Amino acid sequence: MPLIEDDIRALANAAVGELVVRIIEHWRNGTLGRAVLVKLGLARWPAVDSDHYRGDVARNYLTKRLKQEMWHKEQELMSDLLDAQPDGIKVLDVPFGTGRFVGMFQKKGMIIFGIDISEDMLETAKEELGEAYNECHIEVGSADALPYDDSSFDLVVCFRFLGLLPYAVAREVLSEIRRVSRGDVIVRVPVRKDSAPVLPPIQPHELIQGQLFERQLVAFFGEFNLTVRQTLSISEREEVVFKIFVLN
Ligand SMILES: C[S@@+](CC[C@H](N)C(=O)[O-])C[C@H]1O[C@@H](n2cnc3c(N)ncnc32)[C@H](O)[C@@H]1O
Repeated sequence: MPLIEDDIRALANAAVGELVVRIIEHWRNGTLGRAVLVKLGLARWPAVDSDHYRGDVARNYLTKRLKQEMWHKEQELMSDLLDAQPDGIKVLDVPFGTGRFVGMFQKKGMIIFGIDISEDMLETAKEELGEAYNECHIEVGSADALPYDDSSFDLVVCFRFLGLLPYAVAREVLSEIRRVSRGDVIVRVPVRKDSAPVLPPIQPHELIQGQLFERQLVAFFGEFNLTVRQTLSISEREEVVFKIFVLN
């Protein structure tokens, strides 16, 4: 059966070729050692600079964001999206930050879970939300290792986070979000405009931030069996549109 043998040889060659290219890329980027450890399950890709959201950055986070038109647009769009969700569902906000959606979740009688790596951000959330904070189930922890069972949440919300992550970490975070979700997932991500110049393929250590066209993001979500159900534009900059995707 020469045809099948040829096909197998072609596939093997393609796989080996792809592997070689990835090894060279990692070697050039200085990430080969870590890539091997990650592959062996002995290490993780480093998450977003989790030390950034501490001290004054955490204390002033909300005050600064409240001056952004985009922040208010996001709140407005989310209010409508959350209104369309069933009442009383179990929701996870990751990363919780200052708990910006808690009022909206409460309006729908949702059972609220939140997780964030920064204790200082959660401290700010506590001050902002007062008693409402105590009614939420909040934990300190990392989005790439969520401390929840599979299919625990009817809704997972992930805002202003994926874009800040290296591609390889975003992959881990999305995989975790998929694992704990049994319903919709709402993410806010910067998307490369169709009119923007094409970039070389994104590398594992490179930030998602405005690098991926919508079709690439849709394919990326698809890798985790997340299908785009709705897309909303928030605002745009030169080469990037900030969008909300409702996935499930
Ligand atoms: C730009 S803020 C977004 C917060 C919130 N979702 C919002 O929309 O305002 C990024 C947040 O990610 C948190 N963070 C950074 N690395 C994290 C990680 N590995 N796991 C969970 N949270 C993380 C930071 O502490 C910070 O609260």
